[in-house]
Amino acid sequence: MIKIGIAGVRGLSTLQGLKIMPDVEIAAMCDLNEDALNNAAERIGGVKKYRVFEDMLESDIDAVIIATPMQCHVPQAIAALEAGKHVMSEVTAGVSMDELFWLCECVEKYNRIYMYAENYIYTPQVQLVKSMVLRGMFGETYYAEGSYLHNISNILVYPNGKTSWRSYWQCGKRGNFYPTHSIGPVMQWFPGERITEISTFSPGVYNTVGLKQDSGTTTMCRTDKGKLIQIRTDCLSPRPHSMDLYLLQGTEGIFQSSVYGKGNLAGDVDRVSLTSRKTAKGEMDWTPLTEFNEYLPDKYKNATHEQLGAGHGGGDFFIVEDFIEAIRKNIQPDLNVYKACEWTAVGLLSALSVTNGSRTLEVPHFRPAMPLEEKRVKL
Ligand SMILES: NC(=O)c1ccc[n+]([C@@H]2O[C@H](COP(=O)([O-])OP(=O)(O)OC[C@H]3O[C@@H](n4cnc5c(N)ncnc54)[C@H](O)[C@@H]3O)[C@@H](O)[C@H]2O)c1
Repeated sequence: MIKIGIAGVRGLSTLQGLKIMPDVEIAAMCDLNEDALNNAAERIGGVKKYRVFEDMLESDIDAVIIATPMQCHVPQAIAALEAGKHVMSEVTAGVSMDELFWLCECVEKYNRIYMYAENYIYTPQVQLVKSMVLRGMFGETYYAEGSYLHNISNILVYPNGKTSWRSYWQCGKRGNFYPTHSIGPVMQWFPGERITEISTFSPGVYNTVGLKQDSGTTTMCRTDKGKLIQIRTDCLSPRPHSMDLYLLQGTEGIFQSSVYGKGNLAGDVDRVSLTSRKTAKGEMDWTPLTEFNEYLPDKYKNATHEQLGAGHGGGDFFIVEDFIEAIRKNIQPDLNVYKACEWTAVGLLSALSVTNGSRTLEVPHFRPAMPLEEKRVKL
């Protein structure tokens, strides 16, 4: 039996997935806020309740799901690892470069599983495009875009009038401070590559809520094979949400996600154009992505009613399944601490770049036993 403790109510997104996994028990729930804690515990049922994270670590749980505010992730992950618990952490991995180096060291030192809960990677759309990339259907992929356009100015203050952590740790920061829902999925389409350098641009600050964050930030990322990836984040401009906007270009075709899939003018769809599917006149034209559903990974095609019920076409189950499998096999998951830190570092370094004339900055090569001299930001 694997016993799990959840910290932060957002962690309940794993609830259905954990409940249907055999030999897994949600044994503990932690939240500083007593009302939130009681409501969450009631939803889970039969769970020990803690307001203090460190107290939960004293219990006999095997693993924690950390879904507290961003600035708590690294201190809590390290405390959990030190207490011998495996960790699944919400995004982003940490809030400073030093934290990221420290996190890698602790995962290695305490030899426990660390998984990054980058859930957008697990959507059927991203998995289907990945499967097509791996089959070579786009040829060699060389350019991609990922955008996270989510106006959160209405949740910068809690309903009780208190300032939310988002005012500082999300919207008080410059650069692409919340990049991983864009980078994580896109990097699935450049298998084996990593981001080596970034440069960040912004149009300036136009928000009316008095925050110093740019009104949309674009980071250009270069991979170790020279490919180009554009990441755009905008959390304050007045506009409808569009959090999973992607484009992928390869030598044999292109994928473009739906731009206006939701809302009043909904109608366009995720689409693909491949050289192998030219029209009778020999022209490139669009085909709905769903026409390629046969290439979805089998587990998505064969997802049970219960797995689908976890949410996001089964993705919210499969992310939990990968964490539990990693614990059972004692092998770090694909979404390991090094990927978590690389993708988070893009955001942290972008703040430095945009405040220094879009200067190009090197992204450290996060890897096991990283030498000390590489654990620094080079200007
Ligand atoms: N992956 C996704 O799609 C996604 C979506 C939303 C939020 N998130 C992430 O989830 C995390 C939480 O976001 P949220 O929107 O739920 O925030 P929130 O402010 O609404 O809720 C945070 C909860 O954590 C509790 N908390 C704060 N500090 C704590 C501590 N030290 N110990 C225990 N509990 C503590 C608070 O009382 C609150 O109930 C963030 O890291 C955010 O980036 C991810």
